[in-house]
Amino acid sequence: MSEDTAANELAAAAGRPVLEEAAMEGHTTIGCGGPVDFLVEAVSTGRLQAILQTAVRHHLPWIVLGQGSNLLVSDQGWRGLAITLAGELDGYDFHGNELHAGGGLLLPRAARLAAERGLSGLEPLAGIPGTIGGTIAINAGAFGAAIGELVLQVEICGEENCFRLEREELDFGYRSGNLPPGTVVSRAILALKPGDAAGIQAAVRDFRARREAGQPRGRTCGSVFKNPPGNASAGELLDRAGCKGLAQGGAEVSRLHANFIVNKRQARAADVLGLMNSCRRRVYKSFGVELEPEVRFLGDIGLEPLK
Ligand code: EPU
Repeated sequence: MSEDTAANELAAAAGRPVLEEAAMEGHTTIGCGGPVDFLVEAVSTGRLQAILQTAVRHHLPWIVLGQGSNLLVSDQGWRGLAITLAGELDGYDFHGNELHAGGGLLLPRAARLAAERGLSGLEPLAGIPGTIGGTIAINAGAFGAAIGELVLQVEICGEENCFRLEREELDFGYRSGNLPPGTVVSRAILALKPGDAAGIQAAVRDFRARREAGQPRGRTCGSVFKNPPGNASAGELLDRAGCKGLAQGGAEVSRLHANFIVNKRQARAADVLGLMNSCRRRVYKSFGVELEPEVRFLGDIGLEPLK
């Protein structure tokens, strides 16, 4: 089947236009990466399933693209389909102390909406530049809190069906969860606690300010490596191994926080990857610790072996 047929069928499934050869530098926070074959918006669970079914029929690998905040796409791009969630899949509703959110709802927005209603729980997470679904999938967190702690229920969609998983069935760990592979978080229910709106809003501002003070501004993909088991953090190990300020092409290891790589001037994904390899090797040589990437790779891109 030709690319034209796939594009037409995807557009019919989505009920909206499909972007072809969509450059990922415009869809990732770090601002690099080549094109994906197709980019399409899913506006309901029905549309989402139809899109997934079309992808499977055309043997197209797919990903859900949130903010693209935790993603490094190969400069050569990726032969597949990126799906963004919109319409009812990035909407929200409050029921008592619960936030019922579409998987595409942005976490900073969710935190602000909850704070306005005097609902507490999301404050430490307010600065995370991701979607509810994307952060639940990896159990993203900040300041000792993680989104998984708030989740009461998630709705998951694959090409066959959509189903719900209750809190008891979810097993969140540090930056990990047990959501079935090949599925999308279409909706989630978060349990919040009532409190004083002004106090909660002040806490949101405070957490955001703390994050901004400790992490670089500019184009990054968030923490590059996960914190290793034990007490030392990735940032501290990278710092002690002398990584701050290392540069390759247009990319530089932040001088403020060594676990961030900043796209200073039209960096390529290869520059970011090169820095990750050098930094990882330095930490391994200095401390014998094998750092694991927190950023997800897409396309023909991956770390060199350490040994
Ligand atoms: N540190 C250094 N040098 C550095 C950076 C950090 O010595 O260059 C030290 C700090 O002084 C501190 C320790 O390392 O004692 C930890 O640093 P920080 O408090 O910045 O936290 P982190 O573990 O590096 C984690 C998350 C962030 C989250 C912050 C805020 C991971 C990998 N990172 O960072 O999450 O925003 O806590 O709580 O878990 C992300 O996941 O993308 C992310 C940004």
